[in-house]
Amino acid sequence: MADQDEVPEATVENILSQETLKWVFVGGKGGVGKTTCSSVISILLAEVRSSVLIISTDPAHNLSDAFNQKLAKMPTLVNGFTNLYAMEVDPVVEQEGTSSEEMDSLFSELAGAIPGIDEAMSFAEMLKLVQTMDYSVIVFDTAPTGHTLRLLQFPAALEKGIAKVLSLKNKFGGLINQVTRMFGMEDDSGDDAFLVRLEGMKEVIEQVNNQFKDPDMTTFVCVCIPEFLSLYETERLVQELTKFEIDTHNIIINQVIFDDEDVESKLLKARMKMQQKYLDQFYMLYDDFNITKLPLLPEEVTTVEALKAFSRHFLSPYQSLSSNDEVERLQRRISALKQQLREAETALDRLK
Ligand SMILES: Nc1ncnc2c1ncn2[C@@H]1O[C@H](COP(=O)(O)OP(=O)(O)O)[C@@H](O)[C@H]1O
Ligand SMILES: [Mg+2]
Repeated sequence: MADQDEVPEATVENILSQETLKWVFVGGKGGVGKTTCSSVISILLAEVRSSVLIISTDPAHNLSDAFNQKLAKMPTLVNGFTNLYAMEVDPVVEQEGTSSEEMDSLFSELAGAIPGIDEAMSFAEMLKLVQTMDYSVIVFDTAPTGHTLRLLQFPAALEKGIAKVLSLKNKFGGLINQVTRMFGMEDDSGDDAFLVRLEGMKEVIEQVNNQFKDPDMTTFVCVCIPEFLSLYETERLVQELTKFEIDTHNIIINQVIFDDEDVESKLLKARMKMQQKYLDQFYMLYDDFNITKLPLLPEEVTTVEALKAFSRHFLSPYQSLSSNDEVERLQRRISALKQQLREAETALDRLK
């Protein structure tokens, strides 16, 4: 059995030193600390990179809460930084630039038959925009698991969809033109406009798809807590990422209760025991991952100051006195017990 003290403790140092990284995804179940962790990672990256952009794709945005600053759909400089930008995007369908005529046209209808293509296209358009902005590295604060995986699948889905539409256009394009003219239907310039847009997108998609599958350029950081559901969800996430050929080799276990001397509460001790069981399982299942443990704090981690202070736990393993210096801890305990014994003896003498 893996024991907490025997396992070499890891950090996120590997992500900070991987200079080729361009896309860092941070994901996991809701409420485990995705926003906190992605914000801290972006702050740490800003220290070693020329420019960093953090994008929230979680419809339940809370990046602005973490940074304590209002954010928009376009990159905003984070207060107190010169090279850290943040933005919140809604992966909701946006039909700007697509006139209703276009959408009525045959090919757009065909395209519409491909599930999720609208969302895929707005994601692609966002990536296209972000790519032209030339950030050194881009961190994603993603939505809970299912949604994120769907977004990551989009490039592949969109590529397939575009190929399908194009081949149909090539096969039947002439025929369709004849038919529409025969029946005196209106000119189909809308189709071409839509196709041009699709084809333009295809290039970005191909490029991004290749980058997402390149472990030199892209990695996915799984955030979780030491509980059964989170362990289960993490395993599902890791399997899906492997299926999509997206690199993942960092797990952050957040909200860990450490065995500090001052943990006297029965409730906390029980939680600690429960957590230890799952921590052991994490270390057993993911022995080839960098596992970083973060302490559960008595307070929330909001504002840049709090995030900065919390960031030290991303760089060096948590030092609780018990694991830090077992001898010293025991010596203190013995002297405390001796003192208690002396006091009890004195009290007993007095009673006699
Ligand atoms: N280790 C921690 N100790 C105490 N509070 C934390 C810790 N990690 C996160 N939080 C707080 O928990 C809440 C949820 O964290 P958040 O990062 O927003 O999760 P997610 O983005 O996964 O929903 C926030 O209020 C955050 O400040
Ligand atoms: Mg969040």
